[in-house]
Amino acid sequence: MALIKQMSLYERSLAVLPPVAKRATTLGITKAKGSYVTSEDGKEYLDFACGIGVTNVGHNHPVVIERAKKQMDDIIHVGHGVVYYPSYIELAENLNRLNGGNRKVYFSNSGAEAVEGAIKLAKKVTKRSGIISFKRSFHGRTVGAMTVTASNAGYRQDYEGLMPSVYYAEYPYAARTGLSDEAETKRCLDSLQEIFQMLIAPNQVAAIIMEPVQGEGGYIVPPKSFVESIRKICDEYGIVLIFDEIQAGFGRTGKMFAWQHFDVQPDILTLAKGIANGFPLSAIVAHADLMDQWTVGSHGGTYGGNPVSCAAALAVIELLEGGLIENAAKMGDYFKSQLVKLQHNYPQIADVRGLGLMIGMEILNVDGKPDANAVNLIQEKALEKGLLILTCGTDKNVVRFIPPTSVSKEEIDQALAVIREVIAEVL
Ligand SMILES: Cc1ncc(COP(=O)(O)O)c(C=O)c1O
Repeated sequence: MALIKQMSLYERSLAVLPPVAKRATTLGITKAKGSYVTSEDGKEYLDFACGIGVTNVGHNHPVVIERAKKQMDDIIHVGHGVVYYPSYIELAENLNRLNGGNRKVYFSNSGAEAVEGAIKLAKKVTKRSGIISFKRSFHGRTVGAMTVTASNAGYRQDYEGLMPSVYYAEYPYAARTGLSDEAETKRCLDSLQEIFQMLIAPNQVAAIIMEPVQGEGGYIVPPKSFVESIRKICDEYGIVLIFDEIQAGFGRTGKMFAWQHFDVQPDILTLAKGIANGFPLSAIVAHADLMDQWTVGSHGGTYGGNPVSCAAALAVIELLEGGLIENAAKMGDYFKSQLVKLQHNYPQIADVRGLGLMIGMEILNVDGKPDANAVNLIQEKALEKGLLILTCGTDKNVVRFIPPTSVSKEEIDQALAVIREVIAEVL
């Protein structure tokens, strides 16, 4: 009797999912635990993608599951436009505490939704219409968030006619320009001054939106002096400073929030991804005096701040403060130091960078040009050897590592063994 091979999830997807829903891999996953995922054919993979920086405390953490289950027994949905419930208020209290107090919080579901809300809030309080964003930034796929995104023209293709009055300044990228931190900061601030001089006067600008560490754009860390200068410029002209920490927040960089690395606090902070370890949730955390001007009815949504998501987020905060942030900082230093050692043997590894466990490895070819093909191969071959990783960068030439904050040294060593083998084959 002939054996009929069962179709894989990927094969089945071809009939029912559009190309726009194509995954970074053809993997079908049926289980996830800690730092590992298991495929439909029973193979275990070390997951250094974390669902794109979401499962920051590890897959299916027992404390997150326990809190979410308990919350499900009590309330699944009542609506934050209808009533108040404990997990929502408690989470807002925690986010206020973690951001130094005098903050208020608005919850939504996705990162893009938080970005849309942040832009609306900035416009509402300043009564100005201009927004300045940065080249290589990524803020999401809805129309407002897509407009302030400038990491890849492909995201905007055929959608032009977006939100008006958005301008793009240069974001520091010393690995690419070869300039010192000081000269790179100057180059980027000059581009901002040029926008003010040639395109929109600063008193017409509602907000500057930036990722304190760029994510999709290539895991780029700006100099502290740049971030400080942006804060000063915002203060000088009454511009609202929005930090998008949707990818960099919640322990990812070895601190609870990336702004803590720069000692620069934004007026509005957007959070999502790692906030609830996989339950859909996002937050806008802003100065109370801004939030108090966001009047009833001027923003809203049915599903924001789901009780189960908020309960999961409270567990995430407890776990991160209970030692995982410290672990992320320690493991991040170790992982990066080992990648830097590897870099010494391969001139094509142009840069190893990042904060905590948000690490990028930029690959150039022998002519010094971005090498997306090599990065693709590295990703593919790593997967064959049991390591799930992603890529990023406008030129798609950055290997990105996003392990959970709970990752162990042994797991990093396991990943490094794969990376060393793959790099030796590809470069
Ligand atoms: C910095 C940043 N902002 C916004 C978003 C959009 O978030 P979401 O995909 O949840 O809408 C992302 C997603 O990758 C992101 O990395």
